[in-house]
Amino acid sequence: MNVYDSARMVELLTPLGYTVIDCAEDAHLVILNTCHIREKAAEKVYSELGRLRRAKASAAEEGRRMTIAVAGCVAQAEGEEMRRRAPVVDLVVGPQAYHRLPELIAQVERRQGGLTDTNFPVESKFDLLPDTRSPQGIAPFLSVQEGCDKFCSFCVVPYTRGAESSRPVAQILAEAQSLLASGAQEITLLGQNVNAYHGTGPDGETWGLGRLLRALAALTGLTRLRYTTSHPLDMDAALITAHRDLPVLMPFLHLPLQSGSDSILAAMNRRHKLDDYKERVAALRAARPDLALSSDFIVGFPGESDRDFEATMQAVREIGFAQAYYFKYSPRPGTPAAALACQVPDAVKSERLTALQALLNEQQRTFNRAKVGSVMPVLFDRFGRRPGQLVGRSPWMQAVHAELKSTAFGRLIEVRVTAAGDNSLAAEPLAF
Ligand code: 5AD
Ligand code: SF4
Repeated sequence: MNVYDSARMVELLTPLGYTVIDCAEDAHLVILNTCHIREKAAEKVYSELGRLRRAKASAAEEGRRMTIAVAGCVAQAEGEEMRRRAPVVDLVVGPQAYHRLPELIAQVERRQGGLTDTNFPVESKFDLLPDTRSPQGIAPFLSVQEGCDKFCSFCVVPYTRGAESSRPVAQILAEAQSLLASGAQEITLLGQNVNAYHGTGPDGETWGLGRLLRALAALTGLTRLRYTTSHPLDMDAALITAHRDLPVLMPFLHLPLQSGSDSILAAMNRRHKLDDYKERVAALRAARPDLALSSDFIVGFPGESDRDFEATMQAVREIGFAQAYYFKYSPRPGTPAAALACQVPDAVKSERLTALQALLNEQQRTFNRAKVGSVMPVLFDRFGRRPGQLVGRSPWMQAVHAELKSTAFGRLIEVRVTAAGDNSLAAEPLAF
């Protein structure tokens, strides 16, 4: 979502004469768009600000002004504190207020001293961002929903991104059409909890994600559709049947489980049991037999015993994942889990992470190897490191390398998979 938000910030600032450059040291304006989800991500911001402090000082020596803004969820969480801790920062702007950037930057540059805007404004930023998207490549993101009302006990999102809110259907369709007109073929819908989507339709009714996907699938020029990230409880019947009925909806779903232990799931306030997850997965696989799953896992949540962790390992063995992300539990200030007494020592977290990683990597390798010899459509959207090589995505999000002429760039091409690595496939085109 930060990638999406950053692209929108660029679109907002382009009419004012800004252009994107590669080197922050030469910039007139630097915006750090930040993530607060785990401690490591948040810490990166301060080390980056240290580097920018030196760049700003050199710019001043040369008589150049450099304005430094921090946007995103670290900005939201730290607010005024951010400029106290890092006085190099001129502007702090939260994820729901960045449509005000042009005005905020002008204010900061006019006066001495900085500015903080971490309000949750009554207006929706989406109503104020430009209607037409600049070209975003072949497989862009499209934000349809933001914030979250689930309050998982480990998670900062409900506090930093705010309450769950869904964009109106007409606005999303218009943005999708704008992306398609500028060369997009595959669109990934985004939301912190995207399947909680409940936007107002053109008919005045509230549409769920299943219905929205159907409307998007009907757009001319759209070849592939994906969405991320979902909560198991919001995986409703309409969404599951969308997986059955819509060929453009890719057979790959990121559905975080977090833990395989019912008592840890309860402590996490996930509001479902392992069996509920398994039931949803069974229904999805019945609807779309070639569906592959991806997930997020947290190890070392407060109170996680060896038995709880073994339940996660067992769940992974039973369900089977094509891909996954796994994290050590990271206490986030202000979240209920951070205050729990029974924190797990880091050494135990590391041990569990290593074991889970080995199991998930093995499942990923097995999934990749099973594709060798098969024929699949690949959307080639990147140039490879070697000349004559293009890289694309399989329907299951695997990176696929093939020797192809550059005229194949941006095309959906049938390939036969010739080899599988841990993280990618090699393939040859059937005809091109
Ligand atoms: N510690 C570790 N991982 C976390 N996540 C969210 N909050 C935390 C935290 N405090 C992980 C979850 C979520 C993903 C985006 O990040 O697995 O699904
Ligand atoms: Fe965070 Fe996702 Fe839980 Fe919402 S559903 S609180 S975004 S982990």
